[in-house]
Amino acid sequence: MSMVHLFALAAIAFSDAISACRVEECALWFHKTKEYENLEPKATERYCQALQTYLKCMNDTMRFCHGNLRFHSSELVMRRHWKEFECEKWESCNGGARSQVRPINTCYFNPPPSNRKIKYCALFGDPHLLMFNGSVQTCSEEGARPLVENRYFLVQVTNKNVRAEALTTTVAKITVLIRKHNCTSTLRYEANADEQGLPQGFTDGTTFQRTDHNRNSVEVLSQDNSYVEIAMHYIHSSIHIRRQGPYLSVSVKAPSSVLETDSDVSNEMCWSGCSRFSVIAQESVFRKPEKFVACYARQLHVPKKVAEERCSSVGTTDAFFAACVFDLMLTGDDYLVHLARNVQSDFRRLAPYHLQSQIIKNRFSTHNDNQNSTETISDAFQGCLSSNTVPSSNVFLAIILMISFVL
Ligand SMILES: *[C@@H]1O[C@H](CO)[C@@H](O)[C@H](O)[C@H]1NC(C)=O
Ligand SMILES: *[C@@H]1O[C@H](CO)[C@@H](O)[C@H](O)[C@H]1NC(C)=O
Ligand SMILES: *[C@@H]1O[C@H](CO)[C@@H](O)[C@H](O)[C@H]1NC(C)=O
Ligand SMILES: *[C@@H]1O[C@H](CO)[C@@H](O)[C@H](O)[C@H]1NC(C)=O
Repeated sequence: MSMVHLFALAAIAFSDAISACRVEECALWFHKTKEYENLEPKATERYCQALQTYLKCMNDTMRFCHGNLRFHSSELVMRRHWKEFECEKWESCNGGARSQVRPINTCYFNPPPSNRKIKYCALFGDPHLLMFNGSVQTCSEEGARPLVENRYFLVQVTNKNVRAEALTTTVAKITVLIRKHNCTSTLRYEANADEQGLPQGFTDGTTFQRTDHNRNSVEVLSQDNSYVEIAMHYIHSSIHIRRQGPYLSVSVKAPSSVLETDSDVSNEMCWSGCSRFSVIAQESVFRKPEKFVACYARQLHVPKKVAEERCSSVGTTDAFFAACVFDLMLTGDDYLVHLARNVQSDFRRLAPYHLQSQIIKNRFSTHNDNQNSTETISDAFQGCLSSNTVPSSNVFLAIILMISFVL
């Protein structure tokens, strides 16, 4: 008997529609087909086609079969076969099949997290790292390192020495990789300090991913060349990238349920901080800036007092004020002042309240409130380079430059 006859036979049988569960008819048809065509339950196209017809038959009669054990058990077995034999992959099967077998790519948005479960991390300036646990570090790491990495996304930063002075690195490159998920394909975003402005989309040219229900699961929101937000709505997470002159910054906001999908976080800067040897004792630098620059053959571009005035005039406070003063003192670069201010305003807008109050409580000070022995200072600055005293004329020049900037 040919297939056409068989289908005709089946159609006649099915069209005899009475309001009853026709599971026996479906099963009989399937059984006969297998027999006539000598079909083995294997991952072949023909077997999958027969399975598909069978599942369609079952689906059509489903609403009359509530509580019918035979219906539920044979449907379960057939669906398992369907999955096991990867029937979806056959062109001839997946058209009609998609609607009867549950779609394989349903994008479910995570439930919104409570505010207490939100974490925030930022890297900016010389660079300064604001960690998930609220600690702030200033460091001089070089090379590429993950800032955050989990099942959903990776943010990698590359820090580079930019001024050919010791202990002075900045973020040269930011790479964001969004991992494949029911809600998105793989996406990559790259920002380079030496390019003009920030890219306004992913490297493949797209700016969003849309789900079946016409919601955007991922999108690049950009206001201008100097600020881009990568929003991952399905996991309530976002990445904020800024550019000020040649400097980049990146902030990450995400719920802990998303962040904790990677078991090993020891290499991620937001969790574990800068490598121990690259951390700069910022308080000691504020106490004895001259000692610090002498130790590392650097220059004091702007006196501390001038830097403090400039940084408070743009409204930076707490950790952002300290970072601003540090960067301005040691570089004289006003772009870093603006960067600190803008990263602070992102923090105020985005970071959860508990982290904000922790940062404020930590009382970041640039003052000499601890006039302690010089031992602590020399302990803080280790591995001094061969001394190379700073010509004071440079400081003077920097002040002039600084004043012309302000005006
Ligand atoms: C499965 O059955 C439902 C209602 O019982 C129907 O709306 C749907 O179109 C059917 N799907 C297929 C693939 O036949
Ligand atoms: C992807 O979709 C499938 C089928 O709808 C679902 O079972 C699975 O849980 C989804 N995966 C994720 C990560 O949401
Ligand atoms: C934050 O984590 C770092 C690295 O593990 C640790 O050194 C620091 O003490 C922690 N800070 C707080 C406030 O827990
Ligand atoms: C100076 O350091 C010593 C120990 O090194 C400590 O006992 C003392 O309290 C410190 N003084 C101040 C003003 O912090």
